[in-house]
Amino acid sequence: MGHMNILILYGTTEGQTRKVCAFLAERLRAKGAEVTLNDATAGEGADPNAFDAAILAASLHVGQYQRAVVDFARTHHARLNAMPSAFVSVSLATVDGDAEERESLASCTENFKAYTGWTGAEVHHVAGAIRLAAYDFFRRWVMRLVAWEKKLKLQPGQDLELTDWPALANTADALYDRFARAA
Ligand SMILES: Cc1cc2nc3c(=O)[nH]c(=O)nc-3n(C[C@H](O)[C@H](O)[C@H](O)COP(=O)(O)O)c2cc1C
Repeated sequence: MGHMNILILYGTTEGQTRKVCAFLAERLRAKGAEVTLNDATAGEGADPNAFDAAILAASLHVGQYQRAVVDFARTHHARLNAMPSAFVSVSLATVDGDAEERESLASCTENFKAYTGWTGAEVHHVAGAIRLAAYDFFRRWVMRLVAWEKKLKLQPGQDLELTDWPALANTADALYDRFARAA
């Protein structure tokens, strides 16, 4: 078998999903895969037919994923369903969420699957970050409230990154193995 050709296409609003996807790309490349890393929110697209496997990633803002990723998944759902694929959902709801929060997170991913038609998406939940400096006045207050509810300590002027990088490395390894088996 030659190099496995993997597409990673993501959307991001404050940059954490880009960081998550860059980490996944590096890990998959270290295993010998050829990885194309594209930012749908920056207008980059791709033809999934040109790849052996695809990872789409997006983050939640008020219950919604970035429109560019939703549109891409909807356009290409038939091909995505037919190839080894995964959807990486970046959020804060995965961090110390109660039952209600887990349920609303599950409904976000279920809605995403139903709307796009990418029903075969294997969903991986990844914790994002709180970047107070990147927010406007209103968002800063919303996120202070979210942090308070989750008992997270915010330091003035400091970002709080909740992504579990060792866990993400394991996710990358598991994805690589699953994609390789299907190839
Ligand atoms: C205005 C705003 C709204 C958010 N809404 C949600 C939400 O509804 N559910 C959730 O789990 N996380 C929510 N988050 C947390 C983001 O998903 C998290 O900060 C993530 O790291 C953002 O990823 P990005 O930097 O790639 O855009 C919200 C964050 C902001 C700033």
